[in-house]
Amino acid sequence: MPTALKLEFAPLAATPKGVLIVLCEEGLKYGSAARKAVAASGDLLARAAAAESFKGKSGSALEIVAPSGLDLARLIVLGVGKARELKEQDFVKLGGAAMSKIPSSATAATIIAEPASGIKAEQAADLALGVRLRAYAFDRYKTKRKEDEERAKEVKVTIAVASVPPVEKAFAARDAVADGVALARDLINEPPNVLYPEEFARRAASLKKLGLQVEVLDVAAMKKLGMNALLGVGQGSAHESRLVVLRWNGGKKSSEPVAFIGKGVCFDTGGISIKPASGMEDMKGDMAGAACVVGLLQALAARKARVNAVGAIGIVENMPDGKAQRPGDIVTTMSGQTIEIINTDAEGRLVLADVLHYVNTRFKPKFMIDLATLTGAIIVALGHEHAGLFANDDKLADRLLKAGLATGERLWRMPLGADYDKKIDSKFADMKNTGGRDGGSITAAQLLQRFVDKTPWAHIDIAGTAMSSPQTDINKSWGSGFGVRLLDRLVADHYEK
Ligand code: BES
Ligand code: MN
Ligand code: ZN
Repeated sequence: MPTALKLEFAPLAATPKGVLIVLCEEGLKYGSAARKAVAASGDLLARAAAAESFKGKSGSALEIVAPSGLDLARLIVLGVGKARELKEQDFVKLGGAAMSKIPSSATAATIIAEPASGIKAEQAADLALGVRLRAYAFDRYKTKRKEDEERAKEVKVTIAVASVPPVEKAFAARDAVADGVALARDLINEPPNVLYPEEFARRAASLKKLGLQVEVLDVAAMKKLGMNALLGVGQGSAHESRLVVLRWNGGKKSSEPVAFIGKGVCFDTGGISIKPASGMEDMKGDMAGAACVVGLLQALAARKARVNAVGAIGIVENMPDGKAQRPGDIVTTMSGQTIEIINTDAEGRLVLADVLHYVNTRFKPKFMIDLATLTGAIIVALGHEHAGLFANDDKLADRLLKAGLATGERLWRMPLGADYDKKIDSKFADMKNTGGRDGGSITAAQLLQRFVDKTPWAHIDIAGTAMSSPQTDINKSWGSGFGVRLLDRLVADHYEK
């Protein structure tokens, strides 16, 4: 059983019980509410700090079990360094760190979110966001409890602040985004026998309840449109392919939508160009781009974003089979351009080629951003700490880079160009689906660019950041949900005016 989180805000005055977390600035400086809350323990904190050489440095912590004089199971002091110098992301991380200190057996905890130099409503809301992101756990398939593990069914976390209403107001949008991240993580973590294309489409379609318009295109509908590149990838699977279009109309009627496109390969065996067995189970996460698009649209709808947005996800399963696509096959895409299949494991770009063209011609969007676990090569280039950013538009690229720094979902821009583009020219068709080992992420992006025309476009290769990425203060989940907070921020900062 996972520990469910119940998050509340309360005024600083309340006397905490259970677990208490207070913040301490460098030089052992506490806010007045924290000082009051621990006053009855006398010089306990000062002596504990001396014994542990705790000085309140950022990232450090002091833990006292059953502190004498206080009605607490545990008193935790989190060092925050110099609170005035903390950035937005530091508060989110601080919330994550606070959540991590709450023992799994605890049913109630209070965080006094007030360092000595004070805190703004937005910062307290950021801290609360961190608590939520950290609290996520995917354990719906764990039926057995570890022996003598005591785990509370629910933990009530109270964030104590000077004035509750402005923090609650600032938190509402963050809460919606945290729900979107949790949905994306759930979809990525689900096993591929449960989350096959039709089931993914059903889950996306259930967002109708939030006021999103949803269309699900089946194989016949996609055949009619000529989406043979997408359909070719799915033709070896026992599960039918789907295309889901989600629309959130929160902006002016006349305003063109912003568009997000996701790679949704529910399982990528590589197809006939089959992958090695070791680690193949990770390829259940090859739909992370699509999961993030769904999480993002849920967030935009839930926080009633003043924007018109389209989310389109191509959902397929890439399997080897008698009916599967072969190396050497040539497919005609919806755009009319032809692609020679060299390697059936370079399938994501085939799916995206048709979805990008479909979205571009149908919606004439302001921009298109696609998210995809597209290449292993991007992990070689950037590791798990940055996603690869490719763009045909400097303004869009810069806005994305900034949103990355603000949210901590960092991007690194990669090059595009004619010299890379010619590497995917084919002997037999307009292009081939691989350009060789060298610059593998770039030649993949070049193929996508052939399907976006003049529309401002960005491609984010999240193979290294969407799954199996480093565990952080705010993410302990295999599927990270990378991209939801990034793109929500892009929209909030530039497209809701
Ligand atoms: N889904 C993979 C890329 C991937 C690799 C995602 C590791 C996450 C972790 C993609 O479909 C793929 O197989 N790409 C190939 C392309 C190659 C055949 C040109 C790759 O990266 O090796
Ligand atoms: Mn592949
Ligand atoms: Zn793939």
